[in-house]
Amino acid sequence: MRTRFIVGNWKMNKTASDAGAFVHRLSQELPHHAGIQIGLTPPFTALHAVREALGPASAVLLGAQNLYWEDKGAFTGEVSGAMLKDIGCQFVLVGHSERRQYFGDQDSWTNKKVLAALRHGLQPILCVGETLQDRDSGQTDLVIQRQLRAGLAGTEAHTLPTLTIAYEPVWAIGTGRAASPEQAVPVHRLIRRTIGELSGTDIGNHVRILYGGSVTPHNIADFLASEEIDGALVGGACLDPVSFATLVKVAIGSKPITA
Ligand code: PGA
Repeated sequence: MRTRFIVGNWKMNKTASDAGAFVHRLSQELPHHAGIQIGLTPPFTALHAVREALGPASAVLLGAQNLYWEDKGAFTGEVSGAMLKDIGCQFVLVGHSERRQYFGDQDSWTNKKVLAALRHGLQPILCVGETLQDRDSGQTDLVIQRQLRAGLAGTEAHTLPTLTIAYEPVWAIGTGRAASPEQAVPVHRLIRRTIGELSGTDIGNHVRILYGGSVTPHNIADFLASEEIDGALVGGACLDPVSFATLVKVAIGSKPITA
């Protein structure tokens, strides 16, 4: 049984001063024993404030949106895995499509970032996804397999139980045009099969695969109805604590349909 994982990605939204009120409201709304994992990825500047607001006993996991692969040194503007671990992060996003699209993150970089995250005991969430052009030209499977193969190169199977993959079709992110479960499920199957081939069937069976791209409280149940989809990476719909909590509550209550 894979534990569901719902991650709210703030992207470049909210200040450290916003963190307290957000976390307070979210905690009021969420049940104490959710039975699923919940994570937040605030911007670097709000990580400490969110950690403080959550407190030591919170079940909500803290994550970062990116990291650099070196541990320290002359890399102006970058933040290392060691720094994230020290501030209380438990996981980190790697290769989000906005990083790939606007900041030049290439497959070889996502690989170094995955390895750095694992080295520092941070759970990597490796994001993969095709553009509309890839999909329209029938390249989806090739692109996803390339991103997985490159991103996970050199990883040792015994370090991967904490690995999570987020399947985020680029055309579905922030567009209000979510993939349909019929579009997403075959890609999730492909991802699981590919990881099984790369790292062994045990890791393939255990890796959690999240869907991301215009997930809302209204469509989350449709995704989680498939046993292939283990959770969601949520952007826009996580910025309001009540909306995010509603989405999480639907995720807690919805049951996969066993075929
Ligand atoms: P969205 O973003 O929910 O706003 O589409 C998802 C993501 O980029 O992780």
